[in-house]
Amino acid sequence: MTQDELKRAVGEAAAAYIRPKLDKDSIVGVGTGSTANCFIDALAQDKFLFAGAVASSEATAQRLRDHGIEVFDLNNVGKLDFYIDGADEVNRNLELIKGGGAALTREKIVAAVAREFICIADETKMVERLGKFPLPVEVIPMARSYVARELVKLGGNPVYREGVVTDNGGQILDVYDLFVDSAIGMENRINHITGVITNGLFARRAADVLLLGTQKGVRTLT
Ligand code: 5RP
Repeated sequence: MTQDELKRAVGEAAAAYIRPKLDKDSIVGVGTGSTANCFIDALAQDKFLFAGAVASSEATAQRLRDHGIEVFDLNNVGKLDFYIDGADEVNRNLELIKGGGAALTREKIVAAVAREFICIADETKMVERLGKFPLPVEVIPMARSYVARELVKLGGNPVYREGVVTDNGGQILDVYDLFVDSAIGMENRINHITGVITNGLFARRAADVLLLGTQKGVRTLT
């Protein structure tokens, strides 16, 4: 199977995973990226089984609406049963690096609200230790150089993702060569730098379930 076929398989597996738990009041949190898009396409077949969705980006909101799925403002939603999203890296503790698509802040907010966070990924994303994928850090634009200098003190090599403005008006630094021994420790340390909006380590709120696309089928890891 190609990587795209694995992404499609986990997207369909995620739709099948939540299907029996959906009811007419359910709201589904939806992530961003090519794997999340596969989930959206599979979810569309079940659109009459649930109330609607909360989107982690403008791009995802548009794709959901294109499928006829109602998109709610998170502020108007009391309870979110599920959040389904892809990842750039995932380890055995289901800690993640996310933000390759620059949607990390909204993704982290929706994940924080959701009762169950289901990560969907193909097997190329599974790693022993997080950090080979450059860690995205969203920053307030005027703080970018200051934050970059602080990230160098942590051992990283930040690179400005030029031309990218996030849905929140932020900018992205991609941090290479970070040694992430403790994902929670590093997530906290970076979030304490003034001017950081958030960083792409999802360890304080890791995934609850990983649906991993492999050549032998979709594996469920908890
Ligand atoms: C977007 C993300 C994505 O989940 C991550 O980049 C994976 O993307 P893809 O499914 O396209 O490989 O965090 O901000």
